[in-house]
Amino acid sequence: MAIGVRTEQAVARAVAGAADSGEAQHQALEALCRSLGWSLAATWEPDRSDVLRCTDVWVEADPALDAFAEATRAYSFRRDEGLPGRVWTARAPAWITDATADPELPRRALAGEAGLRTAIGVPIESGRGVCGVLECFGREQVEPDADLLASMEVVGGLLGQVAERRRAEADMHLSEQRYRATLQAALDPVVTMDHEGRVIEFNPAAERVFGWTSSDAVGREMAELIVPEELREPHRAGLRRYLETSRPHVLDQRLEVEAVRADGSRLPVELTITRIDVPGPPVFTGHLRDITDRLTNEAELRASRARIVEAADAARRKIERDLHDGAQQQLVGLAVNLRGAKSRLAKGDVETTGELLDEAVEDLGEAISQLRELARGIHPAVLTEGGLTPALRGLVRRSPIAVEIASVPEDRFDPAVESAVYFILSEGLTNAVRHAEPREITIEVTHEEGVLVAEVRDDGRGGADIAGGGLRGLADRLAALDGTLTVVSPAGAGTVLRAEVPCGS
Ligand SMILES: Nc1ncnc2c1ncn2[C@@H]1O[C@H](COP(=O)(O)OP(=O)(O)OP(=O)(O)O)[C@@H](O)[C@H]1O
Ligand SMILES: [Mg+2]
Repeated sequence: MAIGVRTEQAVARAVAGAADSGEAQHQALEALCRSLGWSLAATWEPDRSDVLRCTDVWVEADPALDAFAEATRAYSFRRDEGLPGRVWTARAPAWITDATADPELPRRALAGEAGLRTAIGVPIESGRGVCGVLECFGREQVEPDADLLASMEVVGGLLGQVAERRRAEADMHLSEQRYRATLQAALDPVVTMDHEGRVIEFNPAAERVFGWTSSDAVGREMAELIVPEELREPHRAGLRRYLETSRPHVLDQRLEVEAVRADGSRLPVELTITRIDVPGPPVFTGHLRDITDRLTNEAELRASRARIVEAADAARRKIERDLHDGAQQQLVGLAVNLRGAKSRLAKGDVETTGELLDEAVEDLGEAISQLRELARGIHPAVLTEGGLTPALRGLVRRSPIAVEIASVPEDRFDPAVESAVYFILSEGLTNAVRHAEPREITIEVTHEEGVLVAEVRDDGRGGADIAGGGLRGLADRLAALDGTLTVVSPAGAGTVLRAEVPCGS
């Protein structure tokens, strides 16, 4: 067999047997030199500014060659410069029988000292075209040989494949790095498991939420770590069924399930399981989200809606009762009196008629004042007409204990905001009078940066409880307007009831 063909085979075997592209390239250079009896081979690739840099050197173990090998590793060549530069520009092989005699070769003196004579350069060619240069040096002076050169070009092609492989490895490494960075930065837990249900990845968010470190978790069965006991068997069965039938039941859907932490406590999570597209047995990623807060908020919202409806019902019942017990009674009495008066009049009893009419007038007056009182409790007309300032003045006037109004803005606000503030101050005032035994009560309403702040302060005995009926109702009323209610009421040290309502301006 011709030496060239043997060389091609040796290099091809070296490339095929290597674990990665770096090893493949180095072993190819070694196989090339050993098969041809040469002393040194190097590869060159252009950097971004088209300067050729040495990417690898294989050199025979001989101290005489060390200086030349060292210089080769450190060298770079521009186009047309030295042997690599000439091959790079011409995109064609170059054969120099005596490198020490070529005055334009920068390394000729070192080549002389190393005892090197023949130098051959060929392009490294991949599917994308010429991507580098291969050069070899031998101690013998060898005249150009077309067959050998053809084989060298084949080796250049093999090295081109190695370069492609290196590029693919770099891309893969980059995408792996990106994937890893995304996992690390994710705010929600991401847990990856293999086809046996074992954890192969557990990101920092998963560590935080579930209380296992990644090194605890990796290698253990996922079911054991984060699936509640009663769901483990169904989870395992589901995985088995999927592997046998390839029919997904839970893949790519949002599920709300319970998960368990390292300390045994449970939490509701939203879970999406996806099969990742990788070669080999299936791998699954679970994206989880702790939805405790969402569920708590939803429950709170449902409860507060129910309370609002209930409060509205109670208010309607109270109005009905007040009408029934109050004005309705007066009007019924009025009707009786008027009928009596009519029959007395028919009999000519003017005196009794007059008395009955007097009573009727009194009943009517009573009914009117009760209706007025009732209407004020439902919604004071003065609030609708004049806003908070006159409405609060009316509130204070009716109070049995002196109240100081520290400040109230003259501005008008959304009717819902005005009535929320009015009812909060009214309830706060009533509470202070009823429960606190204060010396002083102060009301203050201020308007700052789109928020209306209303306070009732007393210096009474404190101990107000927001869980109660009146205050709870106020908190709900405020929540409906995105506002908040706070009560500071230490025993013996007075009470501050403070409401903050967004008012949009
Ligand atoms: N300013 C206050 N000083 C002392 N205790 C207070 C004060 N305000 C409220 N409390 C206490 O907090 C409890 C709850 O008040 P809340 O207004 O919710 O209910 P209530 O006034 O008892 O009844 P309702 O307002 O439904 O007629 C009161 O029963 C009272 O014991
Ligand atoms: Mg009250």
